[in-house]
Amino acid sequence: MLFIPTLISLGTSMDLAQKIQQLKKEKKAIILAHNYQRPEIQDLADYTGDSIELSRKAMNEKDAECIIFSAVDFMAESASILNPTKKVLLPRKDAKCPMAKMLTVNQIRQAKTKYPKVPVVLYVNTLAVCKAEADICCTSANAVEVVNALDADTILFGPDKNLAEYVAEKTGKTLIPLPSDGYCPTHLRFQSDEVKVLKMQYPNAKVLVHPECTKEMRLIADFIGSTSKICSYAKESNIKTFIVGTESGILHRLQKENPAKTFYLAFENAVCPNMKRTTPKDIYLSLKEEKHLIDIPKATAKKAQISLERMFEIG
Ligand code: 13P
Ligand code: SF4
Repeated sequence: MLFIPTLISLGTSMDLAQKIQQLKKEKKAIILAHNYQRPEIQDLADYTGDSIELSRKAMNEKDAECIIFSAVDFMAESASILNPTKKVLLPRKDAKCPMAKMLTVNQIRQAKTKYPKVPVVLYVNTLAVCKAEADICCTSANAVEVVNALDADTILFGPDKNLAEYVAEKTGKTLIPLPSDGYCPTHLRFQSDEVKVLKMQYPNAKVLVHPECTKEMRLIADFIGSTSKICSYAKESNIKTFIVGTESGILHRLQKENPAKTFYLAFENAVCPNMKRTTPKDIYLSLKEEKHLIDIPKATAKKAQISLERMFEIG
């Protein structure tokens, strides 16, 4: 009678985290998680970072045969494009960035016809088929450097209109937004009035903002940068209190890396539902059943790879 439960209990007593670690070893897999992922996912990941760091990490992990990419579709696609010989798995097929879907191949082709000599810079928050049409990609961490490096004063830039506006301010170049009104639904919800109320409560706080936010948020910011640049700024700063203008998931990393500092979200409901879809159980199933494999047609992947690699050549 004691024997049967032993076998069953072996399966149930081992908690999910242990099972994930075991499967990871068996499959020679690594888990990469974006800074917006649920706290429990960030804690079990091998590496947490912003979009450029995660792409770099995926490229440098020579021993891994499989990459579990806990984020949204376009990030896993980039990892797959940059690592054609590796299995890249997106644990939740429905984790899709709505901003990436705001730009279509047709829109890019029409813009290229209208502005034949103007280079196309695409934010990595785009689908692979769009990256294949770009001259070069960028992330929020390097968009200013990428645009500065181009020998052109006018640039087609998509899909985030706010990032385009920010880069234009920083570089003095003319950025034509592609489409005219692409945006991140989560970052659009931040408002400077709410930051002003928090500033009255915490006058010494520094305001850290992602460039996907609107201009009114950028104007009130002490620092504007990608998710990981926000983390580095908070870590290196002597200030103890911060008001954060980006998705809620980042608070976990900020708090973990800076236990003696305090972070307030500039807007309480700043949640990207797609970034929050993945749970530890999805990671487990992804490893176990090897799903969902990112499979981009070779011709598209090859062209998109060129746009991504040009970005890495810049910095
Ligand atoms: P980061 O590259 O700054 O992490 O941003 C990705 C993103 O989707 C922001 O909404
Ligand atoms: Fe896309 Fe915005 Fe979510 Fe980032 S936060 S993945 S840009 S919807």
